[in-house]
Amino acid sequence: MTDRVFIFDTTLRDGEQSPGVSFNIQEKLEIARQLARLNVDIIEAGFPIASPGDFAAVQAIAREVRGPVIAGLCRANPVDIDRAWEALQEAEHPRIHIVIATSDLHIKHKLQKTRPEVLELAVAAVKQARGYTGDVEFSAEDASRSDLAYLCEVLEATIEAGATTVNIPDTVGYAVPQEFGEFITQIRSRTKGIDQVVVSVHCHNDLGLAVANSLAAVKSGAQQVECAVNGLGERAGNASLEEIVMGLYTRQSYFNKETGIKYDEIYRTSKLVSLLSGMAVQANKAVIGKNAFLHASGIHQDGVLKERSTYEIMNPQLIGLPQSNIVLGKLSGRHAFRERLAELGHMLDGDQLNQAFERFKALTDRKKEITDRDLEALVKNEIKSAPELYQLEYLHISSGTTVVPTATVGLKRNGSTQEEAACGDGPVDAALRAIDKITGLRDINLSEYTISAVTGGKDGKDALGEVTARVEYGGRPFIGRGLSTDVVEASVKAYLNAVNKVIYESGLATDDLGVSGKRRRGRPRKRSEK
Ligand code: KIV
Ligand code: ZN
Repeated sequence: MTDRVFIFDTTLRDGEQSPGVSFNIQEKLEIARQLARLNVDIIEAGFPIASPGDFAAVQAIAREVRGPVIAGLCRANPVDIDRAWEALQEAEHPRIHIVIATSDLHIKHKLQKTRPEVLELAVAAVKQARGYTGDVEFSAEDASRSDLAYLCEVLEATIEAGATTVNIPDTVGYAVPQEFGEFITQIRSRTKGIDQVVVSVHCHNDLGLAVANSLAAVKSGAQQVECAVNGLGERAGNASLEEIVMGLYTRQSYFNKETGIKYDEIYRTSKLVSLLSGMAVQANKAVIGKNAFLHASGIHQDGVLKERSTYEIMNPQLIGLPQSNIVLGKLSGRHAFRERLAELGHMLDGDQLNQAFERFKALTDRKKEITDRDLEALVKNEIKSAPELYQLEYLHISSGTTVVPTATVGLKRNGSTQEEAACGDGPVDAALRAIDKITGLRDINLSEYTISAVTGGKDGKDALGEVTARVEYGGRPFIGRGLSTDVVEASVKAYLNAVNKVIYESGLATDDLGVSGKRRRGRPRKRSEK
């Protein structure tokens, strides 16, 4: 008999706390929909009181996404709880998640309270939340550094007050597996009523032990694991969802547990989160890294060819890794294109299919062989997370070892083209400066710029370049992506994508987009006077 472990995904809450990561509402919805397809049990959609944007995202997810429980985080105070409920109330299965710290360190220095005061706040908060919903989770922040007797006292009181899940976070990633497993065993044996509720763990990765600690806790009876796709999260991140799930699956004979996860959605989910967060997955990352199923040594290759399980403990197809080596090209028709996309999990029809097919055809003019990874990039890059106020019309570059790099850029806005030229430190810099002249956005800074080849291309010459540009504006990060066989063009597209998000989310274009907010001051100049 196997038991179920509930997968609580916190990519949209703790994951978004990763330095430099910021999802807009469309991106959060896109990820939540994919998490529902992945069949996680709980989606922690955000922290509604944190900002109006967080509130709106939790509300939108609660309204739209069906299947998983939708949780919203709040501190143990009445205002937070009311706000969380306001955002969650339309969810099919809403959960209020309350957190307050129980370690003396946090109680004294952060909360500046006493142990009895914290206990009282925790109980009052759970009671208030239970007035709204029957699904209430209580988290004892910094539990792993809390006094065990006091922690059990708080858990017991919150269970009596109506908590249905109690979460034991290793907030600062301090625990080690054997000790953390024993900690869970102790909590389970010393807390009255704990067998009536779900025991959860939430481990951070400061010592690289988040997954190991979570799995040790499962072995000791934890029934819910909080984790994030690609291990995103505060500081060094949370336990990585894909590693937890595949650990439980691959070592089922040891854990005797199962999850409800649809394994073949894992790879796709990881790709989507990596794309939208702008956080690349390291090549040697377990389960979903580029190298996770590659065999370089001759001995290993020989072994795998004779019997796959000699060097592979997981089947890459199980997690949805695209397998086909069939390449599409110039002569491929719409049918083959559609079928291939469907095999990759992208069900396109009607206008969406027509547009994607047009882009595919345009790509075949520039690239002889279009692989699965090109197709994935092509389709995913089309995820519209902000209206395209500015679109790239044309780009001319003059560059070389003996000339000052110069770019002329034409952008379309509302049907008319605006052109600017600029010089820069290189062709990309020149093109981005020309864009800034057109948009008139001041104080916009490119803070990160990464470029990667989607595939090697034939002879490595016609690879698709994927650029991620992170810009800072008004103290917030905005991430843009661009794809092209030409890296300068990919860079311009990525930057424009980020600029369009800045304009949309900062409400700078009421005239064109019908969004509320400030109107852009001043008109862009028509031509540079270089
Ligand atoms: O790390 C932590 O303690 C948390 C809680 C809100 C569960 O993120
Ligand atoms: Zn956390």
